[in-house]
Amino acid sequence: MLILGIDTSCDDTAAAVVADGKQILSNIISSQTDFHRKYGGIVPEIASRKHIELIIYVIDDALKTADVTFDDLNAIAVTNRPGLIGSLLVGIAATKSIAYCYNLPLLDINHIEGHIYANFLEHDDIPFPHVCLTVSGGNTLLVYVMNDWQYELLGGTQDDAAGEAYDKVAQYLDLGFPGGPIIDRLAQSGNADNVNFPRPMLNSGDYNFSFSGLKTSVRYFVTKNLESNSLPPDEDIAAGFQQAVVDVLVSKTIRAAKAKNVSAVTLTGGVAANTKLRQAMSEAGELLGIRVYFPSRILCTDNAAMIAGVAYHKFLAGGRSGLDLNAQASAPLL
Ligand code: KG4
Repeated sequence: MLILGIDTSCDDTAAAVVADGKQILSNIISSQTDFHRKYGGIVPEIASRKHIELIIYVIDDALKTADVTFDDLNAIAVTNRPGLIGSLLVGIAATKSIAYCYNLPLLDINHIEGHIYANFLEHDDIPFPHVCLTVSGGNTLLVYVMNDWQYELLGGTQDDAAGEAYDKVAQYLDLGFPGGPIIDRLAQSGNADNVNFPRPMLNSGDYNFSFSGLKTSVRYFVTKNLESNSLPPDEDIAAGFQQAVVDVLVSKTIRAAKAKNVSAVTLTGGVAANTKLRQAMSEAGELLGIRVYFPSRILCTDNAAMIAGVAYHKFLAGGRSGLDLNAQASAPLL
């Protein structure tokens, strides 16, 4: 069964063809990073305009790379929630047009659910139930995944998402955008012990997160040390900040896994591409006999293969949408 997935929820224009919910025949991602970089973050109006310019070419590329035509498809799926409203609407309009013209079943997909199922594209042995940490630029969620489509939200961020904090900290240090991959790389040669930042909500007793205060600590630290001409190397600040983020994410995820008595944890979302997070979570899991899964880096950040992947399971379960499908900027997972 061939499904064309489309995701335009934020700043990446993405289309992919996936066979039987598993085999990725194409996974095209057109990044708009160059257009947003000078603003230090994503500008929603620019994102939606760029999606309009790119969407046809990206879909065409996805079909050509997969060596299929619209006539070969069995269904088409699109992210319709949550995300930037103008961006979502572009993907939805394109998908509905194709569904109508080629008489294809249409499926609406929750972007977070796409991230959660990204792991299933590459791993055959993920058990239910498990605990999933979804960490991206827009979300930080800890989810107890009981079964297909059965979730319990354990906690989430009360302010900034972890990826947002990475991007802001990179901005304070004038490192570039997006900050996550840059800080990841710099931190590898830094000394985290040289700069100690707070671990927000580490001992809060719940599964919620807060990264806004940590981000502000880094800003004050940089301003104060610049004034006194005593700023440590960027590498050390990056490593110190990252260690604080990773300590909180790993500690809460492992605590949730123990409380729920699960044998597996999955990581997903853009920040799941982080070298230190992957390593620290794997080590913590290994100590307790908890298996830790994460997708390859290309499937951590926004992509449409994960949308086509989850759509396959939804299709088999009878999920279908009408042509009145609309975008929702915010939407619960459950
Ligand atoms: O999942 P994603 O592509 O978009 C959202 O749905 O938000 O995640 C993008 C976020 C950005 O904040 C980016 O800085 C972060 O993921 N990111 C990383 C890494 N790669 C991307 N953060 C930490 N380490 C990385 N290697």
